[in-house]
Amino acid sequence: MAKIKTSAIIPAAGSGKRLKSKTKKQYLEIQGKPLLFYTLQVFQKSKNIDEIVIVAPKNELTLTRKDIVEKFKFSKVKCVVEGGIERQDSVKNGFDSISTDTDIVVIHDAARPLINVDLIKKVVASAGKNGSAITALQITDTLKMAVEGVVKNTFPRENFWRSQTPQAFNYNILNECYDRKLNEEAIFTDEAQMVEYAGFEVSLVEGWEYNIKITTNDDFKLAGFLLKEFNV
Ligand code: CTP
Ligand code: MG
Repeated sequence: MAKIKTSAIIPAAGSGKRLKSKTKKQYLEIQGKPLLFYTLQVFQKSKNIDEIVIVAPKNELTLTRKDIVEKFKFSKVKCVVEGGIERQDSVKNGFDSISTDTDIVVIHDAARPLINVDLIKKVVASAGKNGSAITALQITDTLKMAVEGVVKNTFPRENFWRSQTPQAFNYNILNECYDRKLNEEAIFTDEAQMVEYAGFEVSLVEGWEYNIKITTNDDFKLAGFLLKEFNV
């Protein structure tokens, strides 16, 4: 059997509104290197990834190409393309630029620099077997449903998971969703939600607690600490 071909899409085209900084969070430096560097180096290193498409903001395309891809010799990067209004628009633009003979598409937020090669390996293997897979964490706190500050219900937490990225999909599954223009029907917070909406099953693989998405200033500080602590 021929080796499976795997493409990664890295959405990095957000404006980082919740992290109040002049520089967009994906370009903020941690230990002298931009956050996007840390995310990309793991995909560059992973034996499970053949090519990478980065989706960047319109005004940062050159910066991303010159000061990140070329400077750090990320040879797997096929291209840097422009993002869209919502995250799902950015991912769609990325999808339009990956090789069409790819088997598995891995999608990972630029804002999660604590990704590791093991998470990529697990999610790719599960998508290869099951079609679609996401990394997720089982909820450990008790889950309450509340309206206007008053608890209405408590849920059995065994059934609830927090979804992270990376997420991986058979190319044909994503392609079918886009052919059916499902991405234009609703706003999805991740591609798995679109794939579920299309009627496909999505499998869970164990994520990692510290694969945090940098959203606030405190997250940014924490990421600096974690990257050092885990020798990334
Ligand atoms: N993203 C993107 N295109 C968008 C919006 C988001 O490529 N139109 C990317 C971000 O760059 C990030 C990932 O999707 O890597 C997750 O999004 P989020 O953490 O929400 O980042 P931002 O949208 O940049 O932040 P905020 O929501 O605070 O503005
Ligand atoms: Mg956002």
